[in-house]
Amino acid sequence: MIKPYKIKVEGVSKTFTSGGKVFPALDDVNLTVEDGKFVSIIGPSGCGKSTMFNIIAGLTPPTGGDVFADGESIAGRAGYVGYMLQKDMLLPWRNILDNIILGLEVRGVPRKKAVGRALPLIEKYGLKGFEKHYPDELSGGMRQRAALLRTLLYDRDIMLLDEPFGALDAQTRLLMQNWLLEIWRDFGKTILFVTHDIDEAIYLADEIYVFTKRPGKIKAKIEVPIKRPRSAGDMTTPEFAGLKSTLLKLLFSASPDGAETAGGDEID
Ligand SMILES: Nc1ncnc2c1ncn2[C@@H]1O[C@H](COP(=O)(O)OP(=O)(O)OP(=O)(O)O)[C@@H](O)[C@H]1O
Ligand SMILES: [Mg+2]
Repeated sequence: MIKPYKIKVEGVSKTFTSGGKVFPALDDVNLTVEDGKFVSIIGPSGCGKSTMFNIIAGLTPPTGGDVFADGESIAGRAGYVGYMLQKDMLLPWRNILDNIILGLEVRGVPRKKAVGRALPLIEKYGLKGFEKHYPDELSGGMRQRAALLRTLLYDRDIMLLDEPFGALDAQTRLLMQNWLLEIWRDFGKTILFVTHDIDEAIYLADEIYVFTKRPGKIKAKIEVPIKRPRSAGDMTTPEFAGLKSTLLKLLFSASPDGAETAGGDEID
């Protein structure tokens, strides 16, 4: 039986025009994600990953193609997905609690109710005692957690996370990855996750999409058969090393002009 998809990107292309010049950023991107899956997306810098997220989130219209969620077209429709942008978007003039409930506030949830929903999560995820602190008083890991909690509290089935742990040291990153897997499991979200870290892409995901260089196309879709729950030890197995090698070859062949392609379940 073919399982119903949660989100489908169908033939999406995007062209930017700047200073009279035309820049193709995405070219006929197709991607199907089942309900409850964790999907990593990797690709060279500038290949259009964030642009694709902006399109899925309804912030940027595609030049061609469409995006569907739960059977409906959502292209150009903001608010259907939770989105943590590549830049840490905590507002410096709002304390952590007020940052975390921002999405609920935007959706018109009364403050008292929003705070009531935020506080247990703040406690569970290690930010208790910091509610009244401002973002610049927190460590990088705490800020990332606050930004993720805000995205989580926005309470959409689909979460788009664009390099959420990019600026963290390896140890904090692993803590955050395990924390995210916990959230994903507890809340049954469908997650699309952009990263430049191949270990991270494998460790977290059920499947990985590899983009070509700009204009981005899907080069391959790789399944990650490592069973769950996962732990750091899974990153030292031959199976993991094999997947990593496949992805590196695909990425390498996705970057420089004229390089040979190798390995993987190539799509184009
Ligand atoms: N608003 C815009 N106007 C013009 N060009 C843009 C705009 N946004 C993105 N681009 C261009 O589109 C291409 C894709 O950018 P995008 O940010 O999506 O890449 P990315 O894959 O997320 O890169 P990175 O891995 O570095 O974050 C780039 O060449 C970028 O310069
Ligand atoms: Mg980006």
